[in-house]
Amino acid sequence: MKENGRKTYTYNKSMELFEKAATLIPGGIYGHMSPTAMVPGEYPYYTAEANGCRYKDIDGNEFIDYMCAYGPMVLGYGNPVIDGAAEAQRKMADTTNHPGPVMVELAEKLVDMVPIADWAFFAKNGGDMTTYATLAARAHTNRKKVITVRGHYHGVAPWCTSYGHGGVTAEDRQNTLQVEWNDLDGFRQMAKENRGEIAAFIAMPYHHITFGRQELPAEGYWTGVEKICREEEIVLILDDVRAGFRLNLGGSNEYFGFKPDLICFSKAVGNGYPISACVGKKELMTAASKVFFTGSFWMSAVPMAAALATLEELENTEAVKKMEKSGQLLIDGLVEIGQRHGLEINPSGPPAIPFIHFCDDPSLYLNQLFCSEVTKRGSFFHPHHNWFLSVAHDEIDIKETLNHAEEAMKAVKSALDGKSPCLAV
Ligand SMILES: Cc1ncc(COP(=O)(O)O)c(C=O)c1O
Repeated sequence: MKENGRKTYTYNKSMELFEKAATLIPGGIYGHMSPTAMVPGEYPYYTAEANGCRYKDIDGNEFIDYMCAYGPMVLGYGNPVIDGAAEAQRKMADTTNHPGPVMVELAEKLVDMVPIADWAFFAKNGGDMTTYATLAARAHTNRKKVITVRGHYHGVAPWCTSYGHGGVTAEDRQNTLQVEWNDLDGFRQMAKENRGEIAAFIAMPYHHITFGRQELPAEGYWTGVEKICREEEIVLILDDVRAGFRLNLGGSNEYFGFKPDLICFSKAVGNGYPISACVGKKELMTAASKVFFTGSFWMSAVPMAAALATLEELENTEAVKKMEKSGQLLIDGLVEIGQRHGLEINPSGPPAIPFIHFCDDPSLYLNQLFCSEVTKRGSFFHPHHNWFLSVAHDEIDIKETLNHAEEAMKAVKSALDGKSPCLAV
């Protein structure tokens, strides 16, 4: 497709392959990467190659990536330091009868970096760790119930998956209670009504839910939650799978000023290598060791070597500062472009994990339109999931994206053709 003499992207090969995949794989591409969650045909479906903050799809289109593999890519795809550390370990050993010494080194590194951590436990995915943490909390307290925040995502285990998804029964969730985000009184009340029965409270560090605006904790929320947990002897679990290592290398609780008992990490911890970690206070260590939790590949040494190198590189590159700066540049630029085109944009969340909404756009119609238009011009944005910055995003990349955004905003305006967003739906 040509517009102003510049080609916009098409995704014919992606769609063709997806049609075939749908006959071979349930859902074709399932879960959070399912293209059916976005407007079909408006986004790439398959990656061909990736480097730094960019990747190419199988149609040969190149994108500056603002999803970063939905979080894991934090130092750039194909980062030579991380891949070098992984390769050096691969040459020695990966999946064998025993863990490598790197497992102990990695545990030591996390204990050094994360102020609340006295120990660390490893698995593969974020959902492994949120389930492990709740089991450890139950083993520690000898209680059954877990309080969660409505809308917070902790993985796909039935205890935390919404009733209505295939195979999940009401019984799976009978010990999972829900409170609203930022509702300290509601949490206090629930803890009181279930006194002696609540093993854990688990939540993301702030409200970053799909489709919604990202909401930061209200003043006093986390310290209030922490106090109630101490009084009621409830284990406080921070699910830092998504935000971890983008806001503070000591855990996002350090950014928001509170001390959980357990923290679950994954995504960014290995820069794309499959690994997750749960760290905890020493009081929880005996209970944590009583939980039977393992997997065939959990002790593999290569992802551990990659994670160790990632944590060191995050420190060496002043990663948190850089991602915040790049994210702010991006958001300020998008808001300014919107203003010039008469479309008010409301950013939300911390700059390193930003998201935007257009004003008066409850159905996210404008987000869909804008994100598909900007993606077609070379910067990949998701229309209803928060975005991610990485250390590999330089000022020059953000500026190129703002050029894509300028053209995309013009396309949005012309699609609206003078109508209000509501009329255009
Ligand atoms: C906050 C949070 N917790 C847990 C998970 C589950 O992690 P995984 O998909 O690696 O199992 C995710 C994944 O997006 C997440 O964002």
